[in-house]
Amino acid sequence: MSAPTVNRVWQLAARPTGFPSGDDFRLIEDSVPKAGPGQVVVRNEVMSVDPAMRGRMNDVPSYTPPFQIDQPLEGGAVGTVVDSQSPEVPVGASVLHGLGWRDYALLEAKHVRVVDTALAPASAYLGVLGMPGLTAYAGLLDVARLRPDETVFISGAAGAVGTLAGQIARLRGARLVIGSAGSAEKVRYLVEDLGFDAAFNYKDGSIRTQLKQLTPDGIDVYFDNVGGEQLEAALFRMNLHGRIAVCGAISQYNEPDATGIRNLSLLISKRLTLQGFLVLDHWGRREAFVEEMSGWLREGQVTVAETFVDGIEHAVDGFLGMLRGQNLGKMIIRIADAA
Ligand SMILES: NC(=O)c1ccc[n+]([C@@H]2O[C@H](COP(=O)([O-])OP(=O)(O)OC[C@H]3O[C@@H](n4cnc5c(N)ncnc54)[C@H](OP(=O)(O)O)[C@@H]3O)[C@@H](O)[C@H]2O)c1
Repeated sequence: MSAPTVNRVWQLAARPTGFPSGDDFRLIEDSVPKAGPGQVVVRNEVMSVDPAMRGRMNDVPSYTPPFQIDQPLEGGAVGTVVDSQSPEVPVGASVLHGLGWRDYALLEAKHVRVVDTALAPASAYLGVLGMPGLTAYAGLLDVARLRPDETVFISGAAGAVGTLAGQIARLRGARLVIGSAGSAEKVRYLVEDLGFDAAFNYKDGSIRTQLKQLTPDGIDVYFDNVGGEQLEAALFRMNLHGRIAVCGAISQYNEPDATGIRNLSLLISKRLTLQGFLVLDHWGRREAFVEEMSGWLREGQVTVAETFVDGIEHAVDGFLGMLRGQNLGKMIIRIADAA
C-alpha cells in the first residue's frame, strides 16, 4: 500500500457572529508532514469538539489564544504515531495531543501524552478519562466541595461534563441529583440509564417552576454548565451557604446580546459561594481522578455516554450539532480506524 500523501485540515474561514455556519469553516488539502528531530507525526483517529472552541473563534483575549483566520483549528485528539524522531514516543504509540481537526498532526514529542488504548478506547481519553471527566470531578469535589447527603443540581446534564458530574455526585453520596437537558429523550436517559433522581427538559415550560417542583428542600450545590436563565432559577432555589461551581455558560456563547443575571443579590442574603473555574488549574488532581474513575469504570458504576460522527469531512457538522444539542454525552469525531 502506498504512503498517504494528502492531509485534510479544517481552517477557520471567517469569525462567526452569533451561531456559526458551515461557511465559517474550510476544509483544505495539505501534504502529510514529516517528523524532524524531536518530533512525531500522528495519524488522528478520534477528535473532540468542545463548546470552548466557539469562544476561540472570537478575536478576544482569553485563557487560550483565539483561532486565526485561514489557519488550522485545534483541539484534543488521539491517534497513532506513524513517523517519529523521538525515542520516547516511537512509531506505533497511541497518543493524546492538542492538534485535532486534521488527518495528520506534526508535534514536538514533548507535547503528546502516550495513552494505553488496551485499557480504554481512544475516545475515553477525550471524555470520561480526559478533560471533561476531570472538569466534572474537580468542579464538583474541589470547587463546589460537595458533601454527602447534599442536593445537587446539574444543568447541561446530558452532555460530556454533565453526564459525569451527575454520576460522580451520586457515587460520592449526594442525597438527590437533579439534572436538566434539552429533550424528553435526554431526560429519560438521565433518570433511567444514569441514575439521576429526577430531571427536566428546560425547553418544556418554566425552568423556575420545574426546578422548584424537583427540589422541595432546595439546592446545596449547583454545577452550572449553561448560565443564563438556569443560573437565575438555581439562585432562587439555593439553600443557605450553598455553592455554585460555574463551569460553563453555553446558553450565552452564541448570544452576543445575552441579558445578565438579575437576582445576584441572593448571594448576599443566602451567603452563597459562586465560583468560576477552569480545568487547567486542576491538572494536579488528574492522577487521583483517573484512579477513582478507572475504579468506577471497572466496577461498572459509571456509564459512558458518547455520540460519534464519522469522517473528518463531517467534523464541522459534529461541532455545530454539539452546539445544537445533538449529542448525548461526549461528542466525538471519528477520523480513521485504529492502526
Ligand atoms: N470550566 C472548564 O474548564 C470547562 C471545561 C469543559 C467544559 N466546560 C463547559 O462546560 C459546559 C459543557 O461542556 P461539554 O463539553 O460537556 O459540552 P456538552 O454538554 O457535551 O455539549 C453542549 C451541550 O450544551 C447544550 N446546550 C446548547 N445550547 C444550550 C442552551 N441555550 N441552554 C442550555 N443548554 C444548551 C446542549 O444540550 P441540550 O440538548 O441539553 O440543550 C449540548 O449538548 C460548556 O459550557 C463548556 O463550555 C468548561
